[in-house]
Amino acid sequence: MSDEHAIGFMDSGVGGLTVVKQALKQLPRETVYFVGDQARLPYGPRPTEQVREFSWQMANFLLRKKIKMLVIACNTATAAALPDLKAKLPIPVIGVIAPGSRAAIKASKSHRIGVIATEGTIKSDAYRQAILRQDPSVTVISKACPKFVPLVESNEYHSAVAKRVVAATLKDFKSQNIDTMVMGCTHYPLLRPLIQNVMGSHVTLIDSGAETVNDVSSMLAYLDIANTSATKAYPDEYFTTGSPDQFTAIAADWLELPNFKATHIDLGS
Ligand code: SIN
Repeated sequence: MSDEHAIGFMDSGVGGLTVVKQALKQLPRETVYFVGDQARLPYGPRPTEQVREFSWQMANFLLRKKIKMLVIACNTATAAALPDLKAKLPIPVIGVIAPGSRAAIKASKSHRIGVIATEGTIKSDAYRQAILRQDPSVTVISKACPKFVPLVESNEYHSAVAKRVVAATLKDFKSQNIDTMVMGCTHYPLLRPLIQNVMGSHVTLIDSGAETVNDVSSMLAYLDIANTSATKAYPDEYFTTGSPDQFTAIAADWLELPNFKATHIDLGS
């Protein structure tokens, strides 16, 4: 049965667009509704309870717009709110941590995996637990990188400052003999060339968001809710609680959509 309703994506800011970029490529017939809570980011340093509350506000906004599936395109929100949203929502809900962990285990030959993420995600220990549940022989070396999200959100991700910050933040990993590193925050793929440059080409970088789209695709097929019409039934829509101009500048560059437009919304205080 064809279901033409949109898939909802939510994130604290523009990071979720790394997931959307993959979805636009892999699932071109699916309509995307995206919410970025830029007015209240970063989520990383916020208490878990508050991230859960904000996640519910974004989910409820998307539900009112009638979505058939919800993707939490944010690691911090996945760590804080996935079990709750999954248990209580009447539609399938997919987070980014399980797909990222699975891909890392598959890629690693040395069984030494690095995880970089926000303070909230690292504190939750969600990646370590997800990885060890699947393969207890793995050593997980984690690090919070609180300076990365602001670099991306301020559109500085191509800058010399970003290069210096990434090099300084990741220098300890160089002696850790990891062969795989999970970019456990959906903002980080925008810094991918800088991260790869510091870690070297022998380290496989895992884009947890991109991996998630494989799960979305499988879930659409499994539940028989993919849109099987020739084209999207509705246009994609992008919403931010922050400045649409700032959002648009990054989104147009990252998604390579010159006519990109975002709409401002209010979700709460
Ligand atoms: C943040 O808002 O701190 C980043 C969210 C993420 O974990 O992807």
